[in-house]
Amino acid sequence: GRVEKGGHRHWMAKEIAEQPAVLDQALQHYIRDADLVMPNDAVDFAKVNRVVMVACGTAYYACLVAKYWIERLANLPVEVDVASEFRYREPPIPEGTLAVFVSQSGETADTLAALNYCKGKCPIVAVVNVEGSSIARAADVVLPILAGREIGVASTKAFTCQLAVLAVLALKAARDRGTLTAEQMDAHLDTLTRIPALIAQALNIEDELRDIARDLSEARDILFLGRGAMYPLALEGALKLKEISYIHAEGYASGELKHGPIALVDDSVPVIVFAPTDPLFGKTVSNMQEVMARGGKVVLVSDTQGLSSQRTTWHTAQMPDVAELWAPILYAVPAQLLAYHTAIAKGTDVDQPRNLAKSVTVE
Ligand code: G6P
Repeated sequence: GRVEKGGHRHWMAKEIAEQPAVLDQALQHYIRDADLVMPNDAVDFAKVNRVVMVACGTAYYACLVAKYWIERLANLPVEVDVASEFRYREPPIPEGTLAVFVSQSGETADTLAALNYCKGKCPIVAVVNVEGSSIARAADVVLPILAGREIGVASTKAFTCQLAVLAVLALKAARDRGTLTAEQMDAHLDTLTRIPALIAQALNIEDELRDIARDLSEARDILFLGRGAMYPLALEGALKLKEISYIHAEGYASGELKHGPIALVDDSVPVIVFAPTDPLFGKTVSNMQEVMARGGKVVLVSDTQGLSSQRTTWHTAQMPDVAELWAPILYAVPAQLLAYHTAIAKGTDVDQPRNLAKSVTVE
């Protein structure tokens, strides 16, 4: 009933709403007195020259975001792979590799097999929600995401908590490698600790997102676009939407629009653009114009400055301002709420979508 769901209609709604609290908890575990605390300091990124990150589903998209962070902040190359490909490709693991496995359940069969392939070849970090899980037990270092039990099949709070912990890991890599000044490090830590409050603010635009979702629920195909660290968020937005509303959705890097997906655009196709103000915002504006010139209906999710320059979009959703690098954590909220309310408008089973399992423990 509703009582166990904290007054919410669905587990997914409860888990979306819990994010300010659980993120705060996760961040406090790793950032204390304005300093990074890695409970287990076994990994020294100064000794690492390459990171491989492996996961499935939503956790894979969290890894794709982290690639932008680790490469930018720590000047360290990162490769990301889906576990089902990684395990059978049996890629070389040269010396100096660190492997990071991300899994909410810690039981996903492909991710566990990929981890076992790396065993004995390089140090292994597991970023998990379930601390006693198989993946946690097989790793050298376990970084819990502390999201609390996640019941809705579509992952929400686990995704943002994965991002928070991977953000901390990226800063740890930067610290070990001396790639940031003390001032830069302090600024990043400060911004991260403010994210839970910003998420609470982002949750306040739920009514606007519900209205947009009502229109989205009429669509047959929906595109999601983003650049940089917002590109993986476009992928996650599309995944969330298709998982629970069964509307066909694809996420694309904005710059790839002209290499295929633009062929789909007409006045029946909503195009959701995640674009905080950043140095590439102007390029995203051109992409939106290309869409609108073909009748496509743009939903622009951006901040005050970004929205002030755009008056001809179909819908807008206003996010609080946030440092560009960390925007994916915040913009996960409108991605989740758009999917949730589109599914509600369609009347689908939000917590138990057809054909999907919470944890895929068999191949
Ligand atoms: C399933 C779930 C997804 C999840 C994926 C990976 O497909 O439905 O929500 O992202 O498995 O699960 P994991 O527990 O390894 O994060």
